Amino acid sequence: MSKPAATFTKDVCVIGAGHVGLPLALTFADTGLKTVIYDIDPRVVETVRKGVMPFQEEGGQELLTLVLQRGLLEAYGTPEHVAECKYVVLIIGTPVDEHLNPQFTAIHKAIETCADYLRNGQILILRSTVFPGITKHIQALLASKGLDIRVANCPERAIEGFSLREFRENPQIISATDPATLTEVRQLFSRFVSQFVEMEPMEAELAKLMTNAWRYIQFATVNQFYMIATQHGLNFDRILKGCRDNYPRMSGMPGPGFTAGPCLVKDTMQLAAFSQNNFVLGHAPMLINEGLPAHVIQLAKQMADLSTMTVGILGMAFKAESDDPRDALSYKLRKLLTLEARRVLSCDPYVRDKSLVPQEQVLREAAFIFVGVPHKAYRGLKLREGQKSIDVWGCLAGPDKVA
Ligand SMILES: NC(=O)c1ccc[n+]([C@@H]2O[C@H](COP(=O)([O-])OP(=O)(O)OC[C@H]3O[C@@H](n4cnc5c(N)ncnc54)[C@H](O)[C@@H]3O)[C@@H](O)[C@H]2O)c1
Repeated sequence: MSKPAATFTKDVCVIGAGHVGLPLALTFADTGLKTVIYDIDPRVVETVRKGVMPFQEEGGQELLTLVLQRGLLEAYGTPEHVAECKYVVLIIGTPVDEHLNPQFTAIHKAIETCADYLRNGQILILRSTVFPGITKHIQALLASKGLDIRVANCPERAIEGFSLREFRENPQIISATDPATLTEVRQLFSRFVSQFVEMEPMEAELAKLMTNAWRYIQFATVNQFYMIATQHGLNFDRILKGCRDNYPRMSGMPGPGFTAGPCLVKDTMQLAAFSQNNFVLGHAPMLINEGLPAHVIQLAKQMADLSTMTVGILGMAFKAESDDPRDALSYKLRKLLTLEARRVLSCDPYVRDKSLVPQEQVLREAAFIFVGVPHKAYRGLKLREGQKSIDVWGCLAGPDKVA
């Protein structure tokens, strides 16, 4: 006998109001859905309730103010309100551990914490980037608890900081453990998306991981090219230009840079774990991308005696115009430089970090400048006479620019 479905007074509960979850909750609320946030971090809940966007997101502050005013968004630090919502969207972090193996504990823990408030008839949408097979596993876990809850996997593919725009522009991959649920999640996302790609859950899980691994590999390829060229004292900017200019087959070739952030490397490692650690083309990029800070230090040591110098890093976020320093390679660069240089100063116009100093101080006191990330503020920045620099990104117009 089928179990009776609960009745719901609200529409969507987003579990995890981070860089992806909060913009998604705002977007659901913006379409008129009664939306609830549940986050275990009390600071996140308090900040959202106060109507303050906790991180940079294009259009985020205005939308947060609007949906709170319209009474369409509520935020809680405890899970009981999960029970009120028809759709439960799980979008918490899915890190790899210190051995680069995927951790399943976070998702399990989140479900266990909410278990008392899960109700028959709900649809659980996994939006975190997960190890292949997790969607079916969670479906079985819920069934083992006697819960009649259907599970979908609709991975997030928006670019951090511009999610509100990209949610509406990118085709949405949707998958579910049964066809009726697929139809329901399609209707839900149709409130703001017009293009869909239907897949089986494991296909969707792999599509997301492969997308990030592909980008990680592409960046590593060009980073290795940069290393080869600069090892031989050549200007990689000129080579890159030669490869790309007016030659369509190379127009998609990215430039070199510190490839980092909370997703690309860990998702490549999730895919490596899924392939029984036989994903040679996934492990090699990690060696290259993670090795780039040490490479630029070697180049700098050929240009100057760092041990006598104050050196400076411009930009600590993991990507340009972002305030997110998570897994940024500029921090690794800084750590390595502390062993080589007399003193290391670092700055960033967006990142909130007490260890940073003002940009003016870096530019005034550092004899050697490293560009950590190509924020617009550094593009074309003139360094003072005699100040040396290494700019992997090619955004400075200073003297002694390497690439
Ligand atoms: N950041 C991106 O650009 C991006 C893009 C695509 C996909 N993703 C994926 O989205 C997922 C989330 O990434 P993010 O960058 O938003 O992470 P985040 O760390 O910014 O946010 C996660 C939020 O979840 C909360 N949380 C953690 N455990 C919880 C629990 N048990 N119950 C309730 N709340 C909990 C945290 O307090 C935090 O606020 C990851 O799987 C990531 O790989 C991220």
